[in-house]
Amino acid sequence: MSFSYPILPEGHLLAIEGLEPPHIQALLDLAESYALLNRQGKTQRDLLRGRTLINLFFEDSTRTRTSFELAGKRLGADVINMSVSQSSVNKGETLLDTASTLNAMNTDILVVRHAQSGAPALLAQKVSAAVINAGDGTHEHPTQALLDALTIRRHKGDLHGLIVAICGDITHSRVARSNIHLLSAMGAEVRLIAPPTLLPTDVDRLGVTVFHDMRKGLAGADVVMMLRLQKERMSGGLVPSAREFFRFYGLDQEKLSFAKPDAIVMHPGPMNRGIEIDSAVADDPSRSVIGEQVEMGVAMRMAVLDVLARDLRRNA
Ligand code: CP
Repeated sequence: MSFSYPILPEGHLLAIEGLEPPHIQALLDLAESYALLNRQGKTQRDLLRGRTLINLFFEDSTRTRTSFELAGKRLGADVINMSVSQSSVNKGETLLDTASTLNAMNTDILVVRHAQSGAPALLAQKVSAAVINAGDGTHEHPTQALLDALTIRRHKGDLHGLIVAICGDITHSRVARSNIHLLSAMGAEVRLIAPPTLLPTDVDRLGVTVFHDMRKGLAGADVVMMLRLQKERMSGGLVPSAREFFRFYGLDQEKLSFAKPDAIVMHPGPMNRGIEIDSAVADDPSRSVIGEQVEMGVAMRMAVLDVLARDLRRNA
């Protein structure tokens, strides 16, 4: 597939905010072609042959880390998963020194997850490798929003004009923030449904509609995107109890019945079953696309690596 450069202007993928709709469209189109290749069991091992990708995850991950590893390997890269818990970080080495050390080994692509918002952007200024943000604090998780958009597009066609309800713990969700930027840029109507305690203080500048009543917020929605209640990022009692939270904001069949009859249900994972989503909804193949999100994660990360590899070749 050919497209006019540059899709990722800085040679990194640090955030969705700042990407233009044609860039997003190009990434989605490229990822769609990888989704088809993946289903056919085909690989493109020449694209990243001789390139080194290091997964540098300072926070836990199942989906993102594994799918970057698979994506890199399917494109022919040498992939290293650095185990931070067994690294010199434990001896006090700083984030910047760790990244500089990896950079000195002629790493081409660094995939970084960190608890501090802005950590990947800081690294991108210090290393020559292309940096991909795999989730930074409560800031952004750009490849998650891209894979979500790919999944939505496969079910609903154009993103423009869709009503997307994002529900639950918005405050702590980098997934929500990236999705808000992407979906708004592509012309979708974004609704946030949450208790006041789980909404960010800057919600007014996000260009979304806020609901505190789930049934009202879900009315007529095309897409219902549930979020994980991130207890590990909460310092105080932002929700009375898991049971109360589920009663008012957990997605079950009754609340889902307020959305459009063909509305799809999404969750970035990992799920807290019985807290933000009922198993009967999460496991309903007629509504849930949660498994497909994971599948699209590999395709989308292949597309991102492909684009960055083209930039690497161009700048060589
Ligand atoms: N959605 C997501 O980022 O999942 P992991 O934490 O498993 O990578």
